[in-house]
Amino acid sequence: MKDADVKTWQISDNSPAAYEKYLVPGFFKPWAETLTALVSPAPDSDILDVACGTGIVARTISSKVNNGIRVTGLDNNREMLEQALQLSEKSGLELTWQQGDAHQMPFEDDRFDYLFCQQGMQFFPEPQQVLEEMYRVLKPEGTLALNIMRSINYNPAFKILADKLEEHVGDSAGTMMRAPFPEWDPKAIRNMVENAGFEDISRHLEIIAVRFPSPEEFLRQEAASSPLAGDIESLEPETLRKLVGDLNQSLEQYQDDQGVVFPMETVMILADKQ
Ligand SMILES: C[S@@+](CC[C@H](N)C(=O)[O-])C[C@H]1O[C@@H](n2cnc3c(N)ncnc32)[C@H](O)[C@@H]1O
Repeated sequence: MKDADVKTWQISDNSPAAYEKYLVPGFFKPWAETLTALVSPAPDSDILDVACGTGIVARTISSKVNNGIRVTGLDNNREMLEQALQLSEKSGLELTWQQGDAHQMPFEDDRFDYLFCQQGMQFFPEPQQVLEEMYRVLKPEGTLALNIMRSINYNPAFKILADKLEEHVGDSAGTMMRAPFPEWDPKAIRNMVENAGFEDISRHLEIIAVRFPSPEEFLRQEAASSPLAGDIESLEPETLRKLVGDLNQSLEQYQDDQGVVFPMETVMILADKQ
């Protein structure tokens, strides 16, 4: 696993399909529903989904709102965008997918009416710079809607998974599993948004219950959908057995007859450009 992968959670080769199959139904889709419910786009609006991944937010808003809106998804990962294109074509949705870096978006000033960014901020090396870019590409009176996972302390099953990966696979595996959960409290996020120039900022905490068929599937599906796949595959069978056994035991408190179920907490922010 490369250092850069650990920091930015870049998804390689076949992972986008696994991401869409396992993680999108489990939590990215429910979050896309609640994030897009925060706004009611006016007819003929231009909408941008930054760090769109396989495009769940772009698809969700396009399926819900049928009043001439135009939706563009931006991501720097070509494989994620290829998956996004396949999925939108399959659903018969006319969406635009563009490759580019959120720090220097390939769009003119004042271009979009609404801008979404779901679970992207924590992966940007310079999140404040990205917020300033978001402000630049939004039209005056445009609206920003973000969500960002809370600290891993509010996402206890992932804390257990990260600790076990660190113990049995190595430090970088633990760091990778913690990367989606920044140590930013909702106030700190609000301040970053305000410092980028936004006004009328509101915070919303979102808590959902997430299910996997078993602790082993929790590990397998998370690994398959991330750059951890190779590391887990190359483990000695005995190490993998110990990891699964230890995880099973540590997640005992979150198990019921259907598998494993636990809370996940995310912060949503809504803000306007004046
Ligand atoms: C956890 S995924 C979220 C994807 C999507 N928003 C969703 O809800 O499923 C994070 C995404 O951020 C993208 N990303 C990371 N750094 C980026 C950057 N500098 N510019 C654009 N996209 C970036 C990754 O490629 C990945 O698709």
